[in-house]
Amino acid sequence: MKMRSIHDQWSSRLAFILAATGSAVGLGNIWKFPYMAGQNGGGAFVLIYLACIFLIGIPIMIAEVMLGRRARQNPINAMATLAEQENRNPGWKLIGWSGTLAGFIIFSFYSVISGWTLYYVYLSLNHGFSSLSMEESQSLFQKMVENPYGLITCHTLFAGMTLGVVALGIQNGLERAVKVLMPGLLLLLLLLLGYSMSYGSFGETLRFLFQPDWNHLSEQSVLAAMGQAFFTLSLASGAIMVYGSYLPSDTSIPRTCIIVALSDTSIALLSGLVIFPIVFAQGMTPASGPGLIFQTLPVAFGAMPGGQWFAFLFFILFVFAAWTSSISMVEPGVSWLAENHGWTRPRASVMIGFGGWLVGLGTVFSFNLWQEFTILGKTFFECLDYLTSNLMLPLGGMAIAIFACWKLSTNSTRNELNLPDSYEFNLWRWVTGILAPFSVLLVCLNSLGVF
Ligand code: PHE
Repeated sequence: MKMRSIHDQWSSRLAFILAATGSAVGLGNIWKFPYMAGQNGGGAFVLIYLACIFLIGIPIMIAEVMLGRRARQNPINAMATLAEQENRNPGWKLIGWSGTLAGFIIFSFYSVISGWTLYYVYLSLNHGFSSLSMEESQSLFQKMVENPYGLITCHTLFAGMTLGVVALGIQNGLERAVKVLMPGLLLLLLLLLGYSMSYGSFGETLRFLFQPDWNHLSEQSVLAAMGQAFFTLSLASGAIMVYGSYLPSDTSIPRTCIIVALSDTSIALLSGLVIFPIVFAQGMTPASGPGLIFQTLPVAFGAMPGGQWFAFLFFILFVFAAWTSSISMVEPGVSWLAENHGWTRPRASVMIGFGGWLVGLGTVFSFNLWQEFTILGKTFFECLDYLTSNLMLPLGGMAIAIFACWKLSTNSTRNELNLPDSYEFNLWRWVTGILAPFSVLLVCLNSLGVF
């Protein structure tokens, strides 16, 4: 096994925090979290989601970054090397494969939905949303998804943007961009929160999001909440492991991961608090699915003075949030091709990008031409989403936790995590090695109706 690392390093801990937050914060927070909370009954879903972030997500994130940094290679090689170093079954390499594949599949549909945000940037300039009613907003959205050519154009543009950055190497551009864009996004969300609090149904939103109604919670919603926790933290999809492999050795992994996870969770909750007051004030149903934010926010912008410019800024920042996430999905595959097969980064990026773009066409058509074509009641897009968020990520995360706690020697782990306090170290091992895998297993079995 060659221990060749052609990786650079992040220039500082801050650079890693920003890049990992850039990966974590994306469509998952602003687009997916609100519509999933809406579809799964609100409060109870949110509570389980938060429990999953803290009890499963953060411990596994620490494990994943640790594995990446210990091996300093792309996820596939990293897992192969670690298994060999620790005299474990080479089959553990599958963690790297499954993560890299999950990242690729997620990229295929992520690029299509990110294309919607690009289209909304165009709409904000062209249409302006001035005094838009909810019906008009819904029809704007409907018209967009019904037109496969438009969707393909936006999907192509977004996939190209992602691969362009990955081809050039992520260091300079990405590091610099996230430093400005992430705070900008937060600022605009806070501004929108002000609008929603004063004009929308804020009380109803607080009740909906934070008062759990357990009757609404099905086994599938619990699985969805857990899947969302993995998806939003970019876990088990190669992204966090590959970013961890660029992390300077003297950075504290646990502290850094907690900062990333808290920032990510705050942005998701903030998005919920911005969107639902408008949903309720407009008498829209919270369970209306993937179109939720694209239908609600333009109405809010349309009612604000200068709303066109806020809309433009917001959708631009939203594109950037999605951009920094999608870059991290293809990075594992690209670095694998570059490191193992000697491909140049541009060539590897074009191959992965084209593959992802092609699979993405299935997602484009699942909103129009293939809408009726379903497998087990799910469209092509819903199948890919289910396969990754609800199966590959949780099971991959479980394997990461088991490997990090049971297969890696305690010495290696202790060294890498640099937790001299044995209470903290034992707590992490206990939660990651036992509680997290056990909970994932329980939720998966439960969703299969085993008990
Ligand atoms: N965490 C990203 C989001 O919330 C999605 C993502 C998943 C990114 C997997 C990388 C890997 O939008």
